[in-house]
Amino acid sequence: MKLCMIGTGYVGLVSGACFSDLGNDVICVDKDLIKINNLKKGIIPIYEPGLEELVLKNYKNKRLNFSTDLINSVKKSDIVFICVGTPTKKNSNKADLSQVYTVGREISKSINKFKIIVNKSTVPVTTGDEIEKIIAKKVNKKNFSVVSNPEFLREGEAIRDFIYPDRIVVGSNEEKSTRILKNLYSPLVSKGAKFQSTKRRAAELIKYASNAFLATKITFINEIANLCEKIGIDVEDISIGIGLDKRIGSRFLRAGPAYGGSCFPKDTKAIVSTGDQFRTNLSVIKSVIKSNKSRSDLLAKRLSLILKNNINNKTISFLGVTFKANTDDMRDSSSLKLIPYLSKKGAKIKYYDPTGSKKEFDKLKNVEFSKTIKDSINNSDVVILHTDWNDFKSINFKKFSKNKKLIIYDMRNIFSPSKIKKLGLKYFGIGR
Ligand code: UDX
Repeated sequence: MKLCMIGTGYVGLVSGACFSDLGNDVICVDKDLIKINNLKKGIIPIYEPGLEELVLKNYKNKRLNFSTDLINSVKKSDIVFICVGTPTKKNSNKADLSQVYTVGREISKSINKFKIIVNKSTVPVTTGDEIEKIIAKKVNKKNFSVVSNPEFLREGEAIRDFIYPDRIVVGSNEEKSTRILKNLYSPLVSKGAKFQSTKRRAAELIKYASNAFLATKITFINEIANLCEKIGIDVEDISIGIGLDKRIGSRFLRAGPAYGGSCFPKDTKAIVSTGDQFRTNLSVIKSVIKSNKSRSDLLAKRLSLILKNNINNKTISFLGVTFKANTDDMRDSSSLKLIPYLSKKGAKIKYYDPTGSKKEFDKLKNVEFSKTIKDSINNSDVVILHTDWNDFKSINFKKFSKNKKLIIYDMRNIFSPSKIKKLGLKYFGIGR
């Protein structure tokens, strides 16, 4: 099929590359000329394992192309995917839908035969209705159909999540469009992915409800971890114990820093805002947002206690600063709260991240990027393991540091407390 992806961020680029790999002709459109020219040269704007190879392979065999010309790209396509950003509006919980609606208006100028307009951007319930209204101003309703097809890709695992999804959700008010999309996804369905067809509004809510539920699960285990620290038991045992109950499930029960990233913080706020719009109090999600917001303060206070309120002049090494491993994404990372707090308190921060230095810390006093794990750890008083990259899992602390009083604060519980203690070092984890 001939597909057009509008927006070459995580969703558009990953989905476009994967659809082309499944044998479709795909044009990825973006208004950013530099990005498009770079993509044509094989320069990928984001860090995503496996993406570069997939883009290069399919660009070479001409199934994947890049363009800034939205109108002509839409004209050439049967299915058009909207994959633009929906950030949180300033001073509000609402999603900013301006990019989605602008694209809707552009598409309406380019419909020359029947097209399915698929919204993959994460949008509040009723956005599909609005897109339909915008296009219907210029185009006869018989010539287009607006469908919701949310994505559930995780950064760092996006390609695997695309190829082996738990489910594919298609929300459409017309059977014909559902049939065409089911056909498009048939290579994945035949490998075992579940295909769910629903009304368009239901698909829009499934996306928000999924992310809100996962954020709730994480926040729940984070609070249980707080309790475990007080009782003196290991939250890892609790995660295993409750996760073995099939009704609960073991995934997304890893206690850690506050959840971050491009989705959970934004989508939990947006669903609360939808609740407000429909006069429904989503009190559980509201308290998840509140609990997560206070989590970085709580972890900073714990570090302060570990250091006997003596943060001034301490050298603190951060291993990993992105919101999680296998991504270069800093959006809503808890390091953005922890590092400025510690620097303000007079600590010297040396951070290492496999994806390089971060502009977010450039202007902070006493915060510097270390080129290697060893440089970051060497001469430090504390090591904060902030993300669980494989690179960090078997660090030989004794080899990297001469400090006999080195403190390890393992915010992802990847080290064995007993092994660290055997080295004569102090170990603190989350909820243990
Ligand atoms: C998420 C959803 O998983 C994905 O389906 C959706 O499409 C986009 O949002 P992503 O933001 O890439 O994906 O990251 P994810 O792996 O879900 O992690 C989100 C945050 O939760 C991270 O800060 C991560 O460290 C944290 N997390 C995750 C935990 O603290 N514990 C866990 O058990 C899982």
